Amino acid sequence: MCGIVGYVGNKSAKEILLEGLLKLEYRGYDSAGFAVINGKNIECLKCKGRVKNLKEDKKIGSVIGNLGIAHTRWATHGEPSTRNSHPHLDNEGKIAVVHNGIIENYVELKNFLLERGYAFLSDTDTEVIPNLIDYYYKLNGNENFLKAVKQATDELVGSYALEIISTHNLGEIIITRKDSPLVIGKGVGENYICSDVPAVLSYTNVFYYLGEREFAVITKNDIKFYNNNLESIKKEEKIVDWENSAADKGNFEDYMLKEIFEQPRKVEDTFNIENLKSLDLPKEYLNDLNKIVIVACGTAKNAGTVAKNVFENLCRIETLVEVASEFRYRNPIIDNKTLAIFISQSGETADTIAALKLAKSKGAKTLAVTNVKGSSITREADYSVYTLAGPEIAVASTKAYTSQIALLTLLAIDFAEKLNRVDSKIIEELRAELPNIGSKINFILENKELYHNIAKDIIENRDVFFIGRGIDYAVAEEGALKLKEISYIHAESYSSGELKHGPIALIEKGVPVIGIITDEDLVEKSVSNMQEVISRGAKSIVVTNQEIESDNFDYIINIPKINKLLSPILSVIPLQLISYYAAKEKSLDVDKPRNLAKSVTVE
Ligand code: F6R
Repeated sequence: MCGIVGYVGNKSAKEILLEGLLKLEYRGYDSAGFAVINGKNIECLKCKGRVKNLKEDKKIGSVIGNLGIAHTRWATHGEPSTRNSHPHLDNEGKIAVVHNGIIENYVELKNFLLERGYAFLSDTDTEVIPNLIDYYYKLNGNENFLKAVKQATDELVGSYALEIISTHNLGEIIITRKDSPLVIGKGVGENYICSDVPAVLSYTNVFYYLGEREFAVITKNDIKFYNNNLESIKKEEKIVDWENSAADKGNFEDYMLKEIFEQPRKVEDTFNIENLKSLDLPKEYLNDLNKIVIVACGTAKNAGTVAKNVFENLCRIETLVEVASEFRYRNPIIDNKTLAIFISQSGETADTIAALKLAKSKGAKTLAVTNVKGSSITREADYSVYTLAGPEIAVASTKAYTSQIALLTLLAIDFAEKLNRVDSKIIEELRAELPNIGSKINFILENKELYHNIAKDIIENRDVFFIGRGIDYAVAEEGALKLKEISYIHAESYSSGELKHGPIALIEKGVPVIGIITDEDLVEKSVSNMQEVISRGAKSIVVTNQEIESDNFDYIINIPKINKLLSPILSVIPLQLISYYAAKEKSLDVDKPRNLAKSVTVE
């Protein structure tokens, strides 16, 4: 989704802004633009399409200055076009604004401004903002620009992260936010602004996270923070310990491939027991729980479905998994005896954050499982624990998924040890497996030729089915999501036993069915389900760690044996790579699939 970068210092702002925008390309966008203060004027350059179009624009040479704001836009209001891309200016061209989020009452505000003689050049919701600031600035007798910004934002309904520059306050960038992230990177004699840390990680690792409805006025030597009453406040510096190179592709062709291959280390890092030190949920509290609710979106939700199996097995607590966008709009039955866990790689997903606020308002304790320290979700949750996946740049989540499962498993083990409801041997056996998991993932990664061949064999198909039982079904869900989102092949997941209740009607000659079979208690049943589709002509592909007759299947992917509850961390790897190669074979942009955004900060 939209990305924001800002710079004030002594260097050429446009170089830093453009480099920052390139680093945010992974978020998904359809147009880009930036504005700098050139002497006493605002210079603006915008384009439809990629950031490289800005770089190649003939006018770029004349856009000079040491202070500027920049944006990649993911269209919500108005088609992707130069006219609709940000920054947007007020009618006099003295105030420029970039905006992430959605202004829900923009029609009302636009009418208000139209009645007062303002004109609009774009179809966006954003364009009301610079004009509204102008309106208030004039109402204040052309004084106190910050106050005018506050007055204007007081009128906004919806979500926003805003960067504002103006010829009324030369040398300053004003930022503010509500329900959309914005961070400030601190430099020496220069400061940076960004929606996501990787944009400026090559310049600084010292960050300030702006809170809800707070303001910051940023100059090259100073950063001043204010609350929503414009009273001065102090903010704590946060050091981000991600290596700068972590946000580069290294020797890999794509971020996604790099991130898939990082999984052995990232999973092991996340399993590091130190990870849960900060979390102290006492035995008495856990004993009193009536349920756990896991809420998330997309791949994070799929990791939640795996975790449901683990929590129920080890802790014997009923565990529900909910899609955040649904959960937030119903009246879920939760109370102070519910532990609500919210999983989000980015920590910025609008629906997940709203769901967390709802759970909190109903008295549940809330726990965030995220990859990004200081992200919005961590500021809302009662507790936060972190996956150690490092920055995930590819839109399709891979290492975050396996790291989420690792962390949630660790959490379930911690709870189980306190609850003592299952035989301690089960926990011991599980713990004993953890140190070897990285080498088992490495073993699976070595088989890439097989995954590539399978990918080549399925790319002409219209539909692919993923099936499994129990915890394998949870992985089937993720396999189907990965394939559809990056290769654009229609993919569905079903629990194997459910096939004959309808979906089997879709199986005909050559339709690929990928079965995941790792649960030794269910092997025979799962194999029978595969036989049912084979006898209807399906192309059969099996991912397994069980001894099953390979002659029956078109492809068999053997993965190492592991405790059933950990098997998703292994069985998902071939599925990630099949999707990856399918997308590559179709010459698609695996890192930036169409219509998708990395961080979904609007609902
Ligand atoms: C799929 C994918 C998405 C995200 C979802 C939630 O590969 O990446 O489905 O999992 O948008 O994002 P986070 O985890 O940032 O809340």
